[in-house]
Amino acid sequence: MTDDQKQSAPRRSLWSRRNLLIGGATASAGAVAGVGVELAGRGGTREGGSGGDGNEGNPQAVASGGAPLASSRVEFHGKRQAGVATPAPAYGNFIGLRLRDSIGRDDIKRLLRILSEDARALMSGKAPLNDQEPELAEISANLTVTFGFGERIFDVVNPQGKPTWLKPLPAFDKIDRLSDDWGPADLLLQLCCDDKVTLAHAQRMLLKDTRSFGSVHWVQDGFRNAAGSLKKGTTMRNLFGQIDGTINPTTEDSSMDEVVYGNMDGLKPWVDGGTSLVIRRIHMNLDTWDEVDGPGREDAVGRKISNGAPLTGSKETDPVDLSAKTPIGFPVIAEYAHIRRATAKAPHERILRRPYNYDVPVSHASGLAEAGSTTGGVSQTGLIFASYQTDPVKQFVPIQQRLADLDMLNTWTVPIGSAVFAIPPGCHEDGFIGDFLFEA
Ligand code: HEM
Repeated sequence: MTDDQKQSAPRRSLWSRRNLLIGGATASAGAVAGVGVELAGRGGTREGGSGGDGNEGNPQAVASGGAPLASSRVEFHGKRQAGVATPAPAYGNFIGLRLRDSIGRDDIKRLLRILSEDARALMSGKAPLNDQEPELAEISANLTVTFGFGERIFDVVNPQGKPTWLKPLPAFDKIDRLSDDWGPADLLLQLCCDDKVTLAHAQRMLLKDTRSFGSVHWVQDGFRNAAGSLKKGTTMRNLFGQIDGTINPTTEDSSMDEVVYGNMDGLKPWVDGGTSLVIRRIHMNLDTWDEVDGPGREDAVGRKISNGAPLTGSKETDPVDLSAKTPIGFPVIAEYAHIRRATAKAPHERILRRPYNYDVPVSHASGLAEAGSTTGGVSQTGLIFASYQTDPVKQFVPIQQRLADLDMLNTWTVPIGSAVFAIPPGCHEDGFIGDFLFEA
């Protein structure tokens, strides 16, 4: 048994769990006895999903076993982590953690091993052993758990392995109003799921794992349309009502491999199967957007609100014609239109956008938000703009720079948070996320 196995072995001991429960100030004797019986009855592993001994005595789980989402699963293992090129489920929570100051290499190894073990279980509809609500793990609903590393993980574990681009983005002074409340973090947990109950439970289980290693710096809670609301293959809408995500790499051709995993000239992945994530929290001022009429909204982005077609076409998938002119000689897609500014100027200047809407109701709502305000009005609304690419400096920054210099959408949007993470590759069945960093 290696040192690490010895260290993680006690986690799996029922005895230590029971000690923990008995020692807990709030655990009643009845509750402790109940958990003990459950564990013993399931041979120490809590199986979820339809069928199997995990559903006995739980009518809800049996009923939901027949529902299409209940047992929809995404594979945890593989060359790449799930949650990037896989379809985006309805809910996405991004959690930035700060590791404690005294954290050492072995602590991080232990933490990543524990988190990987529990993510592996949760994604396959099984409850981790320390789960006191195991029924909540039974519905997998396409749960994915994706890990991202901030600079400190490399500084402590393997400084030579740190990608050169892993640092805050350059400042975009004209538009940024960044708050450290949504700033860099040491470790990212990205949880995506089609069932909010499953997601909340998975989040709690993983955060329990991290308790003695650090603290939560931020949680960004996002959503898209519910599973089943839209026909398969429909592009999501953001809270401005725009179809958002039309031009994006896909796994149906080589573009996902090229853009996200560096299989193209001029891009080199930091490690095979690894990528990067830029998370920008972008406030969207719905109150001032309300004042803009339909043509104004379409002019700002360069696409129709109704179906997402470019202003030079009739269907969402029609090619964009940036050279088209109106009868009096003006560009049909304005110089300041978002898509003109964002479109790739070189083959590598592409990104995978996998954003989630956010909407945080404010309790003291009164009046409307003024232009430039990021806090007024009845809600704090926007996009958790999650962008994946091989190299953020080469791919994301030139696009963001052009948008910062000129983009009509800036009238109603304000970036309020920014963080960059290295997304390590996936792992084997007996490995853990980030294990290769400890081999050096
Ligand atoms: C709240 C902020 C934003 C909103 C509401 C927004 C909205 C949109 C919409 C409606 C489209 C057109 C449909 C599509 O192709 O998806 C679009 C395209 C695009 N956006 Fe944004 N966007 C925002 C921020 C950003 C940022 C920060 C970036 C990158 C730095 C970005 C990069 C792109 C790119 C690359 C395209 C495709 C351009 C093309 O080739 O046609 N967007 N965005």
